[in-house]
Amino acid sequence: MPDGTNSEAFVAFDRVQKSYDGETLVVKDLNLAIGKGEFLTMLGPSGSGKTTCLMMLAGFETATHGEIRLDGKEINNIPPHKRGIGMVFQNYALFPHMSVGENLSFPLEVRNIGKAEREQKIKRALDMVQMGDFAGRRPAQMSGGQQQRIALARALVFEPELVLMDEPLGALDKQLRETLQFEITNLAHELGITVVYVTHDQTEALTMSDRVAVFDDGRIQQLAAPDALYEQPQNSFVAQFIGENNTLRGAVTKLSGDQCVVKLDGTGEEIDALPVNVGKVGDKTVVSIRPERVEFNPDLGPDAHTLDAEVKEFIYMGDVFRTRLKVAGRDDFIVKTRNRADQVRLSPGQKVKIGWLPQDCRALDA
Ligand SMILES: Nc1ncnc2c1ncn2[C@@H]1O[C@H](COP(=O)(O)OP(=O)(O)OP(=O)(O)O)[C@@H](O)[C@H]1O
Ligand SMILES: [Mg+2]
Repeated sequence: MPDGTNSEAFVAFDRVQKSYDGETLVVKDLNLAIGKGEFLTMLGPSGSGKTTCLMMLAGFETATHGEIRLDGKEINNIPPHKRGIGMVFQNYALFPHMSVGENLSFPLEVRNIGKAEREQKIKRALDMVQMGDFAGRRPAQMSGGQQQRIALARALVFEPELVLMDEPLGALDKQLRETLQFEITNLAHELGITVVYVTHDQTEALTMSDRVAVFDDGRIQQLAAPDALYEQPQNSFVAQFIGENNTLRGAVTKLSGDQCVVKLDGTGEEIDALPVNVGKVGDKTVVSIRPERVEFNPDLGPDAHTLDAEVKEFIYMGDVFRTRLKVAGRDDFIVKTRNRADQVRLSPGQKVKIGWLPQDCRALDA
């Protein structure tokens, strides 16, 4: 996997800032290196600057400060149509008055490709998205999913090395979205295309990407492979944004190497955690524990801390059980257990002990 270090990066953002009004920065000091053939997703809440970054890369917006490079060359002053980038947006953006064939022909004509070669490329692109029989249709005569496939074919037809996609599946239903997620990643990897993908759907980001850049407030909060992002969030924002997460507030009372003890607000109980984003004893912290890493009545060794919990709700979900608990004065603590033959089903009102391995509980910024 390309590690995206700056020297060999295919796409590089170097200290890029963007302000639309000359006052507020909506992109703040963006440094990002994307390797050739990599599928990189920008994930983040509304207004965090994802589309702005994509627009600067495409050339429809200029960076206020910093440099953007494509294949080692600075592109700040190259107009969009000369960057050789394919693009797919949320609302299809097909030309409504043109047939599918004409829509796909357009980017080839702009590049002065002859008729015979155009026809060959159009056929190939339509076959790729399994729309070979639709060349004569107009956009209005197709379903949303079919139009989105055509938009994808049009972005790929001139064989760009880089394709940008901004929420391309946002308007589609769940099933079609999942099918297309799979098709897009397969196609990109087969053709060796570098993809910068934007979404605010974390499941989509985790399942499709080689790496995910989590955006918030114009900054990348963490850039990592999906498993690292889920299992090793570096701050509270990322822990909360990616996947389901339990948080408990407290203060650090002991800190040594890769373990710390946190005294919880509310009950004053102590727990073991991995110090990730805390500096010293006395620091306030928010600890983060995934629901599937919590154990009931745990057998964790003589020195391990456990917490008292009271069952508030038991939800049977088929493959898993979801148990909601009152822990340290809060009643929104979730534990997920697998539906195994020997798994106990707890009832509301029951008192239990819970615990976890210290490495599964991350002490983060408060
Ligand atoms: N053309 C523009 N003029 C002025 N401000 C803009 C413009 N485009 C975006 N902004 C502002 O820049 C910030 C970032 O917007 P951007 O579209 O990049 O967010 P986003 O992460 O793509 O959000 P979403 O998930 O809602 O699409 C927002 O505060 C937005 O209001
Ligand atoms: Mg956007």
